[in-house]
Amino acid sequence: MKILFLNGPNLNLLGQREPSMYGKKTLAEIEQMVTERAQSLRAKVEFRQSNFEGELVTWIQQARGQFDAIVINAAAYTHTSIALRDGIAGSGVPTIEIHLSNVHAREEFRHHSVIAAVCKGQISGFGFTSYLLAVDAAISLTSS
Ligand code: DQA
Repeated sequence: MKILFLNGPNLNLLGQREPSMYGKKTLAEIEQMVTERAQSLRAKVEFRQSNFEGELVTWIQQARGQFDAIVINAAAYTHTSIALRDGIAGSGVPTIEIHLSNVHAREEFRHHSVIAAVCKGQISGFGFTSYLLAVDAAISLTSS
């Protein structure tokens, strides 16, 4: 079981970026916790971050045949990127959308996700725990 974790723009700044909204943990610390959670469930994870929409699209395309599931925090691209949506829809890899914050409790422009309809489900609002829950959710996709 291999899970690809993708992180979109500005998530490289976690820990220093709006900590009251996104928490104090860095992306590297979250990656460490996700890796440990996955190992305890005999799954492998690969963790990537990019500020570039096209790079995220390329990684989604390349996931076919390489990963059993994708977990994506598309950050601001969640609300804008038809390219990510089409990439997910075409990849054939079951994908889970995650967010640290509860996007539905924030500004109206964050209420709509253009990728939600092509994802298996969405986890939003649990801080770094959203990432850990996504490991379990990804495993449940392939074992159900
Ligand atoms: C986010 C929510 C998005 O609306 C925002 O643009 C982000 C982070 C989250 O994890 O809560 O950059 O995806």
